[in-house]
Amino acid sequence: MSAPFDTTALSPLKENMKKAYDSVAPLYNEWTRSTHLIRIHYIKKLLEHLPASPDLLTILEAGCGAGDPITSLLGQATDPKTGQPRFKVIANDISTSQLEMAAARLSEFKDRVEFRGGDMMALSCADASLDAVVGMYSFIHLPREEQIVFLRRVYAWLKPGGWFLGNFSVQELESAFDERWLGCGVDGGVMFWSGWGAEKTCEILGEIGFEIVVQETVKDSEEDNGKSIEVPFIWVLGRKKN
Ligand SMILES: C[S@@+](CC[C@H](N)C(=O)[O-])C[C@H]1O[C@@H](n2cnc3c(N)ncnc32)[C@H](O)[C@@H]1O
Repeated sequence: MSAPFDTTALSPLKENMKKAYDSVAPLYNEWTRSTHLIRIHYIKKLLEHLPASPDLLTILEAGCGAGDPITSLLGQATDPKTGQPRFKVIANDISTSQLEMAAARLSEFKDRVEFRGGDMMALSCADASLDAVVGMYSFIHLPREEQIVFLRRVYAWLKPGGWFLGNFSVQELESAFDERWLGCGVDGGVMFWSGWGAEKTCEILGEIGFEIVVQETVKDSEEDNGKSIEVPFIWVLGRKKN
């Protein structure tokens, strides 16, 4: 399990985010099940590009949630020729509840999963040490200026030719707060989202140096107060140039 992390170091925005996911985690994980196939579609695209290797490849998953389905899928992945495990996963999340669920789900692969609890902005990895970085529905919770800082760090942490997969809001959104989202306010939680919009996000990734290999908008069907609504996300698969 993840070592306990210092929550006193969190900004009020991040502390409220942590409280929000700590209280809604079980409900969120049920609510979002209908979009698992989208996550699986994109992780498969990433895996197609990762090289076969006799050594474990290292993947950072930022905001891994309860590990369902992606961290779990990475933990289970084996090389089709040798049957050997393919990945070591560094699994990060700010929510203790999410991490506890992920640790239970991934207990079988615990020797290949390193949990690092806390704000992804507090992560540090050695330069050119990672084969891939993944973040699904998690960068949208960083203030958008932080998204740029984090993506720059990701670029530095990736090995030359390493891969990035993530999704972002299609609409430009400086900041949105909601303490009622899935009832997240019960223990003082406040949900927060932010984004640059599809065009500018891709521009930022390009300026950082990523070669964008896939850039697609997919609409999620979400249940919102008993109604079904469509929410678009931009999915980006990018590569650090050699
Ligand atoms: C919408 S959920 C997505 C979880 C998972 N990636 C998935 O696809 O289901 C967002 C996750 O990001 C985490 N999160 C939000 N802000 C974070 C931050 N600053 N650092 C690390 N994790 C964060 C939340 O705790 C939550 O588990």
